Amino acid sequence: MKASTTRASTLCLLSLVLTLLLRPTFATKKSYVVYLGAHSHGEQVTSSDYDRVTESHYEFLESFLGSPDKAKEAIFYSYTRHINGFAATLEDEEALKISKDPKVVSVFLNQGRKLHTTRSWDFLGLEQNGKIRASSIWKKARFGEDTIIGNLDTGVWPDSKSFSDEDMGPIPSKWRGTCQNYLDPSFHCNRKLIGARYFNKGYAAVVGSLNSTFDSPRDTEGHGSHTLSTAGGNFVPQASVFGFGNGTAKGGSPRARVAAYKVCWPPVNGNECFDADILAAFDMAIHDGVDVLSVSLGGDPVPFYDDSIAIGSFHAVMDGIAVVCSAGNSGPGAATVSNVAPWQITVGASTIDRQFASYVDLGNKMHFRGESLSAKSLPKKKGFKIISAANAKAANASAEEAILCKPGTLDPQKAKGKILVCLRGDNARVDKGEQAALAGAVGMVLANNEVSGNEILADPHVLPASHINYTDGLALFSYIKSTRYPVAYITKATTQLGTKPAPFMAAFSSKGPSTITPEILKPDITAPGVSIIAAYTEAQGPTNQDFDARRVLFNSVSGTSMSCPHISGVVGLLKTLHPNWSPAAIKSAIMTTARTRDNTLKPLTDATIPRAKPYARSAFTNELEGYTITDIGYSNAVPIRLIDVNYPSITVPNLNGSVTVTRKVKNVGLQGTYKARVRSPLGISVRVKPDVLKFEGVGEEKSFRVSLEARKYGAAGGEYVFGLLTWSDGRHYVRSPIVVKKL
Ligand SMILES: *[C@@H]1O[C@H](CO)[C@@H](O)[C@H](O)[C@H]1NC(C)=O
Ligand SMILES: *[C@@H]1O[C@H](CO)[C@@H](O)[C@H](O)[C@H]1NC(C)=O
Ligand SMILES: *[C@@H]1O[C@H](CO)[C@@H](O)[C@H](O)[C@H]1NC(C)=O
Ligand SMILES: *[C@@H]1O[C@H](CO)[C@@H](O)[C@H](O)[C@H]1NC(C)=O
Ligand SMILES: *[C@@H]1O[C@H](CO)[C@@H](O)[C@H](O)[C@H]1NC(C)=O
Repeated sequence: MKASTTRASTLCLLSLVLTLLLRPTFATKKSYVVYLGAHSHGEQVTSSDYDRVTESHYEFLESFLGSPDKAKEAIFYSYTRHINGFAATLEDEEALKISKDPKVVSVFLNQGRKLHTTRSWDFLGLEQNGKIRASSIWKKARFGEDTIIGNLDTGVWPDSKSFSDEDMGPIPSKWRGTCQNYLDPSFHCNRKLIGARYFNKGYAAVVGSLNSTFDSPRDTEGHGSHTLSTAGGNFVPQASVFGFGNGTAKGGSPRARVAAYKVCWPPVNGNECFDADILAAFDMAIHDGVDVLSVSLGGDPVPFYDDSIAIGSFHAVMDGIAVVCSAGNSGPGAATVSNVAPWQITVGASTIDRQFASYVDLGNKMHFRGESLSAKSLPKKKGFKIISAANAKAANASAEEAILCKPGTLDPQKAKGKILVCLRGDNARVDKGEQAALAGAVGMVLANNEVSGNEILADPHVLPASHINYTDGLALFSYIKSTRYPVAYITKATTQLGTKPAPFMAAFSSKGPSTITPEILKPDITAPGVSIIAAYTEAQGPTNQDFDARRVLFNSVSGTSMSCPHISGVVGLLKTLHPNWSPAAIKSAIMTTARTRDNTLKPLTDATIPRAKPYARSAFTNELEGYTITDIGYSNAVPIRLIDVNYPSITVPNLNGSVTVTRKVKNVGLQGTYKARVRSPLGISVRVKPDVLKFEGVGEEKSFRVSLEARKYGAAGGEYVFGLLTWSDGRHYVRSPIVVKKL
């Protein structure tokens, strides 16, 4: 007994000593953001004011860590311009203690966010058959002249012609940014690309120290060059991907100035853009004097005070900068939308009326219309044996893996010389093509699974390939089963314009409702995001895979990452046209004047469901006139119901009997009398009071109330129903979606 007691206490003591000894190395430190609110620098702010802020951050942290040296060592960013806060490596207990200080708004982990990976302007009505109409908003808004568009992304490829400063005047005098190329002299800015910075300390805090290749705003990924040129790229004639989509590439604001803020780096665990860097970039971009910020990245929605993009956007909008964000690519499921703060413009993705058609002709005379951007075509016009990739499975792979054409699952002896049918899902579409090519297949048909439905994408595959929809995929598999020697041919893709219906919502586009504030309809708007051609990096091939040694100046990419900068470009035009409009007024003008029908004049449809619900699309950009809903009051002094936030849409997520919401509108046109017309959501009666608004002149504001009452019959409780409120003077139409869920 005794001995064992002694041993126990010795062990105890030993473990205590060990704990004490090992604690410094074993205590896990993580990188955190400590958010303290806003700064109140006056107009005459100097660099010593910023130094004082940093000093105050050191002192604040010292009061928790006990020594000034520890505080200095821990802090790797001090946000000094607009956003007040810092990023530091801390122990969990330290972070917890700090979060309880009354000066602190929030403390959150420095986590990773994801990137939301030419003809489109014609499609939006800005030009016609490649010619710019006299009435185009492009002409009226002088192509976004001298508006400055900033982009938080993977940086920029400065050598792209989209960023040439041909025909650009001197840099606007208000610009305070810089070209951070001190450690990479090969990088250069000009009168078009007026600024570039990079932020990597938040990334380094997670992955460890970085070598010199990280000391540059150069885009070695492609995403940032694509998005920035979509928003504000200059005119580049004869831009194409392997000859496809040949035409003049240009951004939404082709005469705008652009600035790149590199915050995204090679992925770690699937994330590439870290909170601490994102906040640093927002703080600097606001300081530099951008007019619009385009942010094609995001993560899972979290409360706004823990969300770096929401916080950064908030400070930008407070400073009059419109912030446009991608909705995410997590569709088609409901409640998948990210970037849901009311002050962000959240953009979903839809198709345009251009397709890169590549037909799959079968031995039984059936043929399917697919899409492709394969540069290669099949050797001879004859039938090739076509098999399901499941039947080319390697001995050590399962049929489930092989049919997806995952790496290491295909047997070259079975695949050689054949066309493989690979199913969509799991690994990248272009990777499936690569695996088929590696296994010796002559071609690939990529067939949609049920979730991706009708949505087909043109990708620059390394072998002849065509992507077909779900119904065609089913027919193809049944043909293969029906005969002993199934054969097929894949035609070389051709560029087809004016395809119908268009647009329709992409299946991948994230859908509402918002999981944070269901009272705010999200996404706000949709824009082209499928097979968009824009500038690219020359550091990687068009598929972004190591195997791809090809290089392209322009690439076709799909995602809400691509739709977001379309809206940023449109915002740029509005900024040039109406320099004094607030971000909220610009957003409202875009949302309430958006088109809601496709080019067959039918309501917009979805790639997965028969009719796109407002949660899928909200609205569609068009030329902008009429009036606009006035600024949202961001003051937190007066608590208001979220359903009363002066938003351009009306959403009541839990209607119990009846409710009345108010909205305020501002006339931005001349005098006019607007009448309300309502398409009621099923089972809801809607009354608008007053239902006539008479405006005498520009700038006049009026309020109205909308009463919603659940009828006894109609939609069941718990189900969302959709309607529309339209104000019109007979010439202008201003639309607000109405979304209701009965309790
Ligand atoms: C720098 O680091 C990256 C990522 O770790 C690596 O791929 C690259 O080869 C390194 N470059 C040099 C010049 O050391
Ligand atoms: C693009 O079109 C122009 C004329 O419109 C033509 O001269 C050029 O060769 C085309 N480029 C490609 C790659 O097809
Ligand atoms: C699938 O594609 C074919 C063209 O091959 C088209 O006729 C069909 O309508 C598409 N299916 C759906 C559900 O859209
Ligand atoms: C099967 O074996 C090959 C060759 O050893 C290997 O490269 C591949 O990764 C394996 N595949 C699976 C699914 O384990
Ligand atoms: C709905 O309204 C009724 C009558 O006003 C009230 O008794 C009930 O508690 C409300 N239900 C909820 C869930 O708020």
